[in-house]
Amino acid sequence: MFDNGRDAFIDLCYLVSAFLLIFSIKRLSTPRTARSGNMLAMAGMGLAVFATFFIDGVIDAALWIVLAMLIGGGAGYFASKRVQMTQMPQMVAVFNGLGGGTAALVSVGEFLNRDSVGGGEELSILLGTLVGAVTLTGSMVAFAKLHGLISGRPIVYPNQQIYNAVAFGVILILGVLILVLGEGTFDKSLLIVLFLVALAIGVTLVLPIGGADMPVVIALLNSASGVGGALTGFTIDNQALIIAGALVGASGMFLSFLMARAMNRSLFNIVFGAFGAQPTGGASGDSASGEALPVKSTTAEDVAVTVGYANSVVVIPGYGLAVAQAQHAVRELADVLEDRGVNLRYAIHPVAGRMPGHMNVLLAEANVPYEDLYEMDRINDDFRNTDVVLVVGANDVVNPAASQDPNSPIYGMPVLRANEARNIVVLKRSMDHGFAGIDNMLFHDPKTSMLFGDAKDSLINLATAVKDV
Ligand code: TAP
Repeated sequence: MFDNGRDAFIDLCYLVSAFLLIFSIKRLSTPRTARSGNMLAMAGMGLAVFATFFIDGVIDAALWIVLAMLIGGGAGYFASKRVQMTQMPQMVAVFNGLGGGTAALVSVGEFLNRDSVGGGEELSILLGTLVGAVTLTGSMVAFAKLHGLISGRPIVYPNQQIYNAVAFGVILILGVLILVLGEGTFDKSLLIVLFLVALAIGVTLVLPIGGADMPVVIALLNSASGVGGALTGFTIDNQALIIAGALVGASGMFLSFLMARAMNRSLFNIVFGAFGAQPTGGASGDSASGEALPVKSTTAEDVAVTVGYANSVVVIPGYGLAVAQAQHAVRELADVLEDRGVNLRYAIHPVAGRMPGHMNVLLAEANVPYEDLYEMDRINDDFRNTDVVLVVGANDVVNPAASQDPNSPIYGMPVLRANEARNIVVLKRSMDHGFAGIDNMLFHDPKTSMLFGDAKDSLINLATAVKDV
């Protein structure tokens, strides 16, 4: 009776936790409610963890669990306090890897420790081991690439696909053997071999993917870590884990598709295309015939006159804004311009920066009002009526080649049509390429002026100069 009551309490907690997690995802869909969405998710996960202590036998290990939570929670807290916004993808990669690793270790541990395992459970153990181990090492390689510990370029070697195919073949054979053989010491050894081969596959799958595609890979690995978690939930018969894992799996997959669509690439092309394997030139600036193309360099004082007397200005932030940490400087310039009656808006490209919502998060940090942020589809038709576009540390997301050059690797990617504005001012340090590693003819457009320098310095100089206009 007591046990039934306790089980009912646990199930109720898991149900509430599932609702909280689902509502949190709903609230994460807009920046305005995202913070509270995060809180809901934390509450949901906290409740699920709390309820788990009431499962039979868990309380006996409470000391170890609390100790592990303190160590893990403490490490997570300090890491999240120290991490820079631009390093967030690396942080997520580590989280995914740990999630996948946990799923794999729990799966292997359950198989090794149990006297008997049912057929269905055996399958979830096999898949949990495979998905979890691939996620662990794949995420570690993604981390190393993004953090510059290894080259961000696709690392390709001869017969790569053949090695991968053989490795998957070995996994398949091991899996079938384990399922057919049933229990026994030999069976357990086979699962350990499968675990090791899966670890190797994680490395060989991610090495050939370019750093530019890492954010999508991280979203995919995020999805995989969720699937791994859900499979572990089946193995240890924990509903909360199944639901939370399924939510992470599905949302990570949606995110991967959305990012791929915003770059006009297929997920298959991202994972197997080795995009950027061929090095392109160091900097933008030569025509097809090899002649240097014209570039108009300008000063903060000259730009101040152009923007100070404009009616409408659109700021296009990109990765360089994040690198320069120029979000507060851009807000200060916006305040100065708005005081002069300039209509100032921000155009946000879905993959500007290096992670989904990167620009929204940065601008929110500087308290830029959400209503001033315009998504690409809402603002693209307005550029032709815009006096000045300020491109701040953005490059690929304003590259007209995406619509004009069928030979460009980014052809077909939807971009912000900054080239249609009456004047374009680009704030960046040099003529260097953006993430895609390709030339940008916008910088050579007769309507474009280049304000060279660190974005933050340039914006501060510009705001000062506007005050003197
Ligand atoms: P990018 O095309 O990468 O260009 C950023 C530019 O910022 C660079 O050309 C760089 O030029 C400049 N820059 C760097 N540091 C700067 C600083 N301190 N001050 C001023 N400028 C600085 O950025 P984007 O336009 O935001 O495009 C994002 C790219 O990432 C796209 O190719 C997109 O497909 C890819 N990507 C994004 C995501 C997500 S989810 N956001 C996911 C996968 C891939 P200088 O070196 O000359 O200064």
